[in-house]
Amino acid sequence: GRFVHFFESVESTQKIAHRLAQENADEGTLVIAEEQVSGRGRMARTWYSPKGTGIWMSLLLRPSLPPQKAPQFTLIAAVAIVEAIEKVCGLKVDIKWPNDLLINGKKITGILTELQADSEQIHSLIIGIGINVNQDIEDFSEEIQQIATSLHIESGKTFSRAGIVQEILFNLEKYYAVYISEGFEPIKEIWEKYAITIGKHITARTLNKEIKGLASGITNEGVLKLIDENGETHLIYSADIE
Ligand code: BTN
Repeated sequence: GRFVHFFESVESTQKIAHRLAQENADEGTLVIAEEQVSGRGRMARTWYSPKGTGIWMSLLLRPSLPPQKAPQFTLIAAVAIVEAIEKVCGLKVDIKWPNDLLINGKKITGILTELQADSEQIHSLIIGIGINVNQDIEDFSEEIQQIATSLHIESGKTFSRAGIVQEILFNLEKYYAVYISEGFEPIKEIWEKYAITIGKHITARTLNKEIKGLASGITNEGVLKLIDENGETHLIYSADIE
């Protein structure tokens, strides 16, 4: 069955979703928590997930696809979340490749797509979604205030997290079906409408190198194309963008 597993407090919903995936949980299984005490971000960072103010959840999918297709799911999720926030909260959201959703230049959402796969086939794909919803500015440390915001801070309103979750899941189901029947192209088009990275001069930092250049677009796999000053194209699978 497609169960929703709800917890008051967990280390990380991502960790629980991985375990359920190994125990053969079905596609559509959702893990959601009021609080995470060791929420995980990309590149081995932690994700601050205080009690009762945000959406901390992980969705298990089992697409019959090779692992190279996984980055596309981060983009599918981004589109589903942007449209949900715009509809429910009336706020304009920008996408910063690969996985950041920003309001007025500050981070509102992070997406972490992880896999259990072999070289040919995805066994499980876990989309972790963290959304800052009802935090006040004082709830963030000074350091986090510089880079992050919440839907409440941006609008002055308090939102029902369940209403937002419902809209996100509705959109995810819709775009997953579009993806399965029509491929990535229609989703890529919507994604590009919200993306602020494309067409800009950027610096891409990975764990061990730094490349500067023009972000010229994304491939059909959802990978960023970066043209450096020598005109050489680099394919960036994951990086911090500045
Ligand atoms: C990032 O921007 O670095 C990605 C952050 C992803 C955070 C979410 S919150 C729910 C899920 N559980 C985790 O431990 N992380 C993801």
